[in-house]
Amino acid sequence: MTAQTPQPIHLKDYRPPPFLVDEVDLVFDLGEPRTTVHARLAMRRNPACEDTAAPLVLDGIGLTLLSLDLDGEPLGDNRYAVDAEHLTIAEVPDRFTLDMATALAPQDNTALSGLYKSGGNFCTQCEAEGFRRIVYYPDRPDVLAVYTTTLVADRARYPVLLSNGNPTDRGETPDGRHWAKWHDPFPKPSYLFAAVAGDLVALEDSFVTRSGRTVPLHLWVRRPDLDQCGHAMASLKAAMTWDEQTYGLEYDLAVLNVVAVSDFNLGAMENKGLNIFNTALLLARPDTATDGDYQRIESVVAHEYFHNWTGNRITCRDWFQLSLKEGLTVFRDQHFSADHRSAAVKRIQDVRRLRAAQFPEDAGPTAHPVRPESYIEINNFYTPTVYEKGAEVIRMMRLLLGPDRFRAGFDRYVDRHDGQAVTCEDFVRAMEDAGGIDLGQFRRWYSQAGTPALTVDDHHDAAAGTYTLTVRQHTPATPGQPDKAPLHLPLAIGLLDAEGRELPTRLDGEAAATAGTRVLQLTEESQSFRFVDLPERPVPSVLRGFSAPVKLTPPPRERLLFLFAHDPDPFARWEAGQQLATDLILELSTAYRRQAPMVLAPAFVEAFGRTLAEGTGSSGRFDLAFLAEALTLPGLDFLADQAARIDIEALHAARQAVRQELAMALAAPLREAYERHADDGPYRTDPAAMGRRAYRNVCLDLLAAHPADDTGVALAIEQARTGRNMTDMLAALAMVSHLDRPDRETLLAAFAERWQDYPLVIDKWFALQAMSQRADTLAEVRRLTEHPAFDRKVPNRARALISSFAMGNPLRFHAATGGGYAFLADEVLAVDGLNPQLAARMVVPLGRWRRHDEGRQAAMRAELSRILAAEDLSKDVYEMVSQGLGDPARP
Ligand code: TRP
Ligand code: ZN
Repeated sequence: MTAQTPQPIHLKDYRPPPFLVDEVDLVFDLGEPRTTVHARLAMRRNPACEDTAAPLVLDGIGLTLLSLDLDGEPLGDNRYAVDAEHLTIAEVPDRFTLDMATALAPQDNTALSGLYKSGGNFCTQCEAEGFRRIVYYPDRPDVLAVYTTTLVADRARYPVLLSNGNPTDRGETPDGRHWAKWHDPFPKPSYLFAAVAGDLVALEDSFVTRSGRTVPLHLWVRRPDLDQCGHAMASLKAAMTWDEQTYGLEYDLAVLNVVAVSDFNLGAMENKGLNIFNTALLLARPDTATDGDYQRIESVVAHEYFHNWTGNRITCRDWFQLSLKEGLTVFRDQHFSADHRSAAVKRIQDVRRLRAAQFPEDAGPTAHPVRPESYIEINNFYTPTVYEKGAEVIRMMRLLLGPDRFRAGFDRYVDRHDGQAVTCEDFVRAMEDAGGIDLGQFRRWYSQAGTPALTVDDHHDAAAGTYTLTVRQHTPATPGQPDKAPLHLPLAIGLLDAEGRELPTRLDGEAAATAGTRVLQLTEESQSFRFVDLPERPVPSVLRGFSAPVKLTPPPRERLLFLFAHDPDPFARWEAGQQLATDLILELSTAYRRQAPMVLAPAFVEAFGRTLAEGTGSSGRFDLAFLAEALTLPGLDFLADQAARIDIEALHAARQAVRQELAMALAAPLREAYERHADDGPYRTDPAAMGRRAYRNVCLDLLAAHPADDTGVALAIEQARTGRNMTDMLAALAMVSHLDRPDRETLLAAFAERWQDYPLVIDKWFALQAMSQRADTLAEVRRLTEHPAFDRKVPNRARALISSFAMGNPLRFHAATGGGYAFLADEVLAVDGLNPQLAARMVVPLGRWRRHDEGRQAAMRAELSRILAAEDLSKDVYEMVSQGLGDPARP
């Protein structure tokens, strides 16, 4: 374990910074084995800070200090002190210039925070606290400064030199090196600093802003990747247009640079004027990237671009406010994507993700509010709660205010806070002020962790023609928060007649009735809504569009069947199908445990068949992307989250049994659907073409589940051999990866051979094998860690094998032997020595032991304890493991 127990930082301890920085002038002399950085900081005491004699304390980690001057005079050893994380100068004037030089070894930086090398090039990653690994600095987001950056490097090896803002000057040095100078006029926190030096080429394009400025757009990659940039560029331009049209927000610098690097801890980073991307979220070509990749790239390119306003122009006061920029920007990128494809399908995918990643977090040991109150390592808080639940919170405000008042509130926020570092509270207040609404109770969404559970009861009075919905909410306790208060939430509902038509919904006391979806406001623990003019009992359709991130107790089966068949709201229809399937699979799983026969309700097979048939109907009006979602059974992770006690084997067996029954009952129509939508035209990536591939592959996947007829498997093997794009290829290969036959090895080997020069495709190859349902998968995964192409230092590769297994293969990860847990713990320890951020993220599944059987609980806890006992553990992993064990010291 670490020498000292790492201490948490608390939101309640926030104080304004004692010193401000007006200007930063940086000169990087880039090279190996040593890079030197000269920094000149124009600083002054912060008038808002009470302590007028406070010493100057700068953050700095792993730096070699070469020189230090105050107002042009070298500082004697007795005037300052350096420890492992700080540089302290006891006495400074009220206003001064600090000059320093530091030495770094970027080529040895495997943590990928600060300045490091990737693919032979230099690049940086400063969020959240990487800038302190470059120079000593007040490395906190509420210190905003104007940066000027000069990069000096060998011209042949690093012909391209980039930093934030606009290029101002460049030149050569007599010794064959060159330099470039950049100036960013917008004051920014250090986490948005970036620099890149490398042998890169650009896809160039431009964008004319609505005020008529032409902005060059440069997308920088390594030469062989140049033909994989078109989709990212198109996405970027679409995002720029959308932000102007939807929020009136225009790009503000003379140029926008985007760089792709292959060693990166997360997806991408919004550095001002110089976005840096993980290659996995930028590069795409039809034969190398799937439709899912295309969609993710579109979202992430838009996300980073949208940060230019929500994050950069207006930034966070402290890291507890992270969701101020992340939740809001995720909301914006979701809305953007919804406007560019089927909004219902986009919503379904976002909800799937929320349930798969955020709900388990809210129910587990690392549960925290959207605005956390304490942390040990901030990098552990880039979580689904801060991002995805944070986006849901913004979305609820928009539902409560309506689009126009929401936009007014957003404009108020931008006008009021442009150029500032602010809090979530500031955002909510702007919404309240411009929207004329009281969000007092709503604020609890920021401070209260846990997923609220909702139940709905109804009562029909035929004589009076009234229909009453009674809604109850309850949020379960989470670590450190035993008692919960009721939340203010929007509940979107519709009422249907017996044919599935929308009924007018008039609440008692209202003058006019509206037909279709309406939003009720829930504020009480228990609240009734009485509708009038309803002589016939209506069928309620509740939580349409997933209007709030809650767990709603599903209605009885007959009602789910009705809604699955009839609900005009596509989200609600999909949801009914998922709940129905979940209910059935959970029931079958208990039958499996009792060794009773698993019999599937015929009504479900029929309803499923009717939905399937909509894809081959002659009307031409079907949305295949939607049908693909409706025909996809809930995954094991979602099923496990619904079960009171997790029995992975039984859930898997039950899910397989359902797939087999569907395959047997619907073999002919599945085959017909697969043939009907055969892909022979030119490859396209529009939503319709993607929907067709998704629908077709869902059908193939079911066909291949047939227990007696080999046709589906043969078709899958054929498609894996001849697929004309990565979507079809990979979908088929995934089906084949579960099989126990020689074709599997032949196809996997051919795939690896074909794509050996494409790391992102080789990542897919590793992931596929890690997610195989075969009984020997753990042994295979252990064997693959010895594969020459496996490299723990590359986050994409480590995640492809290790996290795909631990998070994407619950069946084999939770093997009763505990071998999956031991493997993960071994890997966490191996990776922690290289890259603590990456290692800490890998710990997550080990902490979720609570609803497993006793044997597994003990095995998981034993592995957590083993990690905790290791020497030199990073504070990143320490925090995750101690929370996972249920650290008694946690507030
Ligand atoms: N701010 C980035 C985003 O969401 C994510 C991010 C935070 C990040 N820290 C990082 C990316 C570290 C890479 C490495 O857009
Ligand atoms: Zn972001």
